Amino acid sequence: MQHRLYIVGAGPGDPDLLTIKAHRVLMQADVVLYDALLGKQILEMLPESCEKVYVGKTYKDQQDQIKRMCRINALMKKGVEEGKRVVRLKTGDPLIFGRGIEEVRFLRNEKIDYELVPGITAGIAAANHCQIPITERSINRTLLFCTGTTLNGDMKQFDAVSTMIQIGTPVMIYMGLNNLGSIIDKLIDNGVKADTSICAISKVSYPDEKMLFGNLSNFMSKLEQNPLEMPTILVIGENIMPMLEEADELLNQCKCTDCK
Ligand SMILES: C[S@@+](CC[C@H](N)C(=O)[O-])C[C@H]1O[C@@H](n2cnc3c(N)ncnc32)[C@H](O)[C@@H]1O
Repeated sequence: MQHRLYIVGAGPGDPDLLTIKAHRVLMQADVVLYDALLGKQILEMLPESCEKVYVGKTYKDQQDQIKRMCRINALMKKGVEEGKRVVRLKTGDPLIFGRGIEEVRFLRNEKIDYELVPGITAGIAAANHCQIPITERSINRTLLFCTGTTLNGDMKQFDAVSTMIQIGTPVMIYMGLNNLGSIIDKLIDNGVKADTSICAISKVSYPDEKMLFGNLSNFMSKLEQNPLEMPTILVIGENIMPMLEEADELLNQCKCTDCK
């Protein structure tokens, strides 16, 4: 008998942010094929009997990406054909910059029964943790997800992104930390105001999560003084002041003795 294969979004890292469905299928899994950014704590809670197979890639590792995808596909197929309960475990949400759709295509071609289980994507988790108003009535009416890294290194998407930022759209940039200097230059060249806010949140939902806030003109020097670890998500926009930061600033400005 063959079991349904699940492509599961694990959320940003904290096991408490797994969905109940993700938790249920993980607890029943015979094989879990997992990615690089996957939280250690999530892997530790898998049943001992479950075979855990690393199939991830790290920033700029030398793996051939076509071979890597072929290996993942072959492992999914083999597991299902052997009658195992297979989970393909991905960080965040499988369809947000997670190549989940390529795996779906393979499974469809192979006529393998599968289901996608959504997860909390890093950007949304970051916005909640830092209380960033990514949408707000009459202020932030659209929201954009964007990648800061492309296969051929071009940054064409930032032409459209620049316009969206100028009309007041917050943009969440995944995989953008290493290219941030070029991204900022491109936005400013395209007319985005240098005082537009930027917030970087590293290791969202991990105990050592960190946030850095600034604007396009001062952010790179702030980052030099306060380096952030990967993975990091970036949020850029005119109206994205994190409520936490706002609270800190208000406290700093306050002259009352209670706040001193
Ligand atoms: C290959 S993409 C995967 C995105 C994932 N599917 C999601 O929905 O969050 C990897 C990028 O996601 C972001 N990311 C993933 N997990 C993160 C975390 N815990 N904290 C901050 N950024 C994270 C970073 O920008 C990282 O470079």
